[in-house]
Amino acid sequence: MAKITKIENFFKIFGGYYKLSRSKRISILQDYGVINADDCAMLTQDISEVFCSDADFLVENSIGCFPLPLGIATNCVINEIPTLIPMATEETSVIAALSGAGKWVNEHKGKIQTSQQGKGIRGQLYFREKSNFSAIITYFNLNKDALISDLNNRVVPSMKKRGGGVFSLEYRRIQDSSVADEILVLDICMDCCEAMGANLICQVSEALKSIISKDLGVAGDIAIVSNLSDCQTTTASLVIPSIDSDFAEKIVAANNVARADIYRAVTHNKGILNGVDAVALATGNDWRAIEASLHGYAAKGGYTPLTSWEFDGESLVGQLTAPFPAASLGGATTQKMVKVCHKILNLRSAQQLSGIFAAVGLLQNFAALKALTTKGIVAGHMRLHINNLILATDATSSESKRLKILLEERLCLLGKLTLTDSLELLHSLRLSEGQVR
Ligand code: MEV
Repeated sequence: MAKITKIENFFKIFGGYYKLSRSKRISILQDYGVINADDCAMLTQDISEVFCSDADFLVENSIGCFPLPLGIATNCVINEIPTLIPMATEETSVIAALSGAGKWVNEHKGKIQTSQQGKGIRGQLYFREKSNFSAIITYFNLNKDALISDLNNRVVPSMKKRGGGVFSLEYRRIQDSSVADEILVLDICMDCCEAMGANLICQVSEALKSIISKDLGVAGDIAIVSNLSDCQTTTASLVIPSIDSDFAEKIVAANNVARADIYRAVTHNKGILNGVDAVALATGNDWRAIEASLHGYAAKGGYTPLTSWEFDGESLVGQLTAPFPAASLGGATTQKMVKVCHKILNLRSAQQLSGIFAAVGLLQNFAALKALTTKGIVAGHMRLHINNLILATDATSSESKRLKILLEERLCLLGKLTLTDSLELLHSLRLSEGQVR
């Protein structure tokens, strides 16, 4: 920030920034030397107004949109339905890996099925003053059903009308070595139908806090959604019959390594989330909530891989179970591009989307384990990484095509590539054409 060096100027210039138009916000950045004219053009001209107007509604201080590549994974048949899966991701190999796994599974007569267990999202209300616990528990036991009705009728009546609403209220006493005192928590579960429901469950949790404060004169503590929302889980199962036993045993063994070592388990689960996050982004879902949910679920009994793989001598069976909070309506699903992605996916319900998340996660994991137990991860990554290496140079589009061939040849020869290879090969291409000396 060349011209804004004084802290008081920093606050003066950006005071009320949120009230300005997007173009004014951008010109302030240019006026103070934060960005130049080319950067302004990038922020204003290169991105469709359609996305930017969505952005203005979604976030404060929007100055444009940050584009991510959007692609479609093909070849995936989920619950016997051919499914095109829109994915927004910058990681080169993710879409290719999912399409490749889908194709392989289909060629090997594999079937992927999904199912849901339970329903809803969890909210929490904490109490820390131990002297109040017995009064709260007595009150809670006497009024539980009335509290559920009151929350449904007053706080989420439209959710109740749609067939959802609060359906369970329970208390737990927590005595953990990490907290000095005992804690009392009320867990609230609510069915949010097609919405993910994080905002709604926060409203319900806060409403419960004020009801208890009014009725009992007891002040509650934190009232908030829990992102470990395991009142609802989704399972994807993949059965591949008559599989080569060597290959199947290698997949099972690779999964067992992740069971044995947390350092591997985290990478294993990251690979699952590569696919799930990309679908979550494309469908306007809260991918941070899904990340938190999956890692939290993996850690419930000590951190483990989210998938299991078994071989019975005939079939290889993979399974992934986790809470996949999903929305088909509400929140960021209203973005225009998201609506297009919903069409590509033929999205009909949040439950269907949770199933797709689970199936994508399982197939993505299969793709990773298959690569790791056969040719290794570098070969496939490198082939796709060539495009990144070309992008990092100033090659023109016609040079890019020839550079790609040279890089592919060098990859066959060396088994690896770096940016230096790309720069060197571009230089020799230009030398051979007499462009440089
Ligand atoms: C890379 O983004 C993801 C993998 O590391 C996942 C895995 O190792 O299972 C390939």
